[in-house]
Amino acid sequence: MTVVDIYKAAGQDQLFDHFDTLTENDKKTFINNLEVTLKRITPQELISDCKNAIAQAAETSKNSGAIEALPDTSYQSVIDNPSAQQTYNELGLKAVNEGQVAVILMAGGQGTRLGSSAPKGCYDIGLPSHKSLFQIQAEKLLSLQRMSKTRSPIPWYIMTSKPTHESTEQFFKKHSYFGLQPSQVTFFSQGTLPALDLKGEKLLLSSPTELVESPDGNGGLYRAIKDNDLLKDFKIKGIKHVYMYCVDNVLSKLADPVFIGFAIKHNFELATKAVRKRDAHESVGLIATKNGKPCVIEYSEISPKLAAEKDKTGLLKLRAANIVNHYYSVDLLNRELDNWCDSMPYHIARKKIPIYDNRTGQYIKPTEPNGIKLEQFIFDVFPSVPLNNFGCLEVDRSQEFSPLKNGPGSTNDNPETSRAAYLQLGTSRLSEAGAHVEKDIHVEVSSKLSYAGENLSQYSGQTFSEDGTILE
Ligand code: UD1
Repeated sequence: MTVVDIYKAAGQDQLFDHFDTLTENDKKTFINNLEVTLKRITPQELISDCKNAIAQAAETSKNSGAIEALPDTSYQSVIDNPSAQQTYNELGLKAVNEGQVAVILMAGGQGTRLGSSAPKGCYDIGLPSHKSLFQIQAEKLLSLQRMSKTRSPIPWYIMTSKPTHESTEQFFKKHSYFGLQPSQVTFFSQGTLPALDLKGEKLLLSSPTELVESPDGNGGLYRAIKDNDLLKDFKIKGIKHVYMYCVDNVLSKLADPVFIGFAIKHNFELATKAVRKRDAHESVGLIATKNGKPCVIEYSEISPKLAAEKDKTGLLKLRAANIVNHYYSVDLLNRELDNWCDSMPYHIARKKIPIYDNRTGQYIKPTEPNGIKLEQFIFDVFPSVPLNNFGCLEVDRSQEFSPLKNGPGSTNDNPETSRAAYLQLGTSRLSEAGAHVEKDIHVEVSSKLSYAGENLSQYSGQTFSEDGTILE
């Protein structure tokens, strides 16, 4: 069967309405592109996965199952618990020192909600230094390397996607890897999936020779780890613990020793960090159990009544907001990765998708959703891990979570809130170290100078009266 026959047999004749008008070269390019897509997924599989995802979406909104907060054996808060924090920190630092920790960054999403076409990590949130998110994160690794006294640079694996790969790599090169060793940074790309029409039946074209394809969601991480042979790399480097996080959180503590120590201490093979949900309506995923298995429930999946329920301490019963900081033991990845890649479900997102109409030869920019993008979610593997191997650590929101989701001037989770959270944290750490920071003054404490408040005693007794002072 030729490639064209395979697509036609799956009911995709519409893709070829213009085929005879293409040049020989364009025909080859088109066939070649279709062949590349076939290696990932056949059109039959795609349509069937999409139909299942549509049915699942309808089902989920009707029935949320038996959702409960995590039991105490899987849940601990380090807020107001300095002794646990210290124990975990020491364990985690030891693992970093011994070169056992790697960091994976998910940076494959496009900043469309942010109104930017550049990778989100290049975004300047308007700090006095105008550092990008990537630079702030690179500097955290530099200070953690110093703090842990490790002789092995912490490997940083950066997952990009087709739309972000090239520009991400160029950005790092242009900025000399922000002082990191180029060899400690690995870029790897996640896969893409074709988009379908709203019925989930027909594939769409983005040009005469290309299907509409988009990144396969943050759950595409697992397949990308597999396809890029990262487990082999972990083995060669002696990596035992993986810290995974999202590019869009300026407060993210890369390779956080406290969190890694928490997982090591309790033998958790998969762990995740949570902050307390701001209020019953905050649109974040919740870490919980469903039918006795660990999971993340998206905010759209629970009823307003359940979202607002309180426990006997007066706090929200379901309050563990997912900040997408996950820990994986390499043993778990070695055991489960293939299963996860084969069994993860898809989710649908109805979007306005620009398409090429091959009957009129016109490009169409729709004003209403006209198609479906399929995505996998990273947390869909959580239920496969037994509860006694799964841990959740509650951390302080003001120190660890300020996501950048929306563009300037929006109501929340925007560049302004990210900048304020970063400046506020640095300034309060400086005060705690004994500096005198005048009222309403904010100091930018570089992440290279201090990872989590250490290394600031040199400023004790000093007065800061100029807003926007930068400490490098
Ligand atoms: C995500 C979480 C949500 C959580 C919220 C907190 C998922 C599915 N949802 O929602 O539970 O409360 O963060 O901020 O995890 N990305 C890729 N490739 C993709 C898509 C996304 O690398 O194909 C990356 C993005 O660059 C970003 C991260 O994944 O770093 C977040 O994914 P996104 O799909 O934007 O999830 P949210 O809706 O923000």
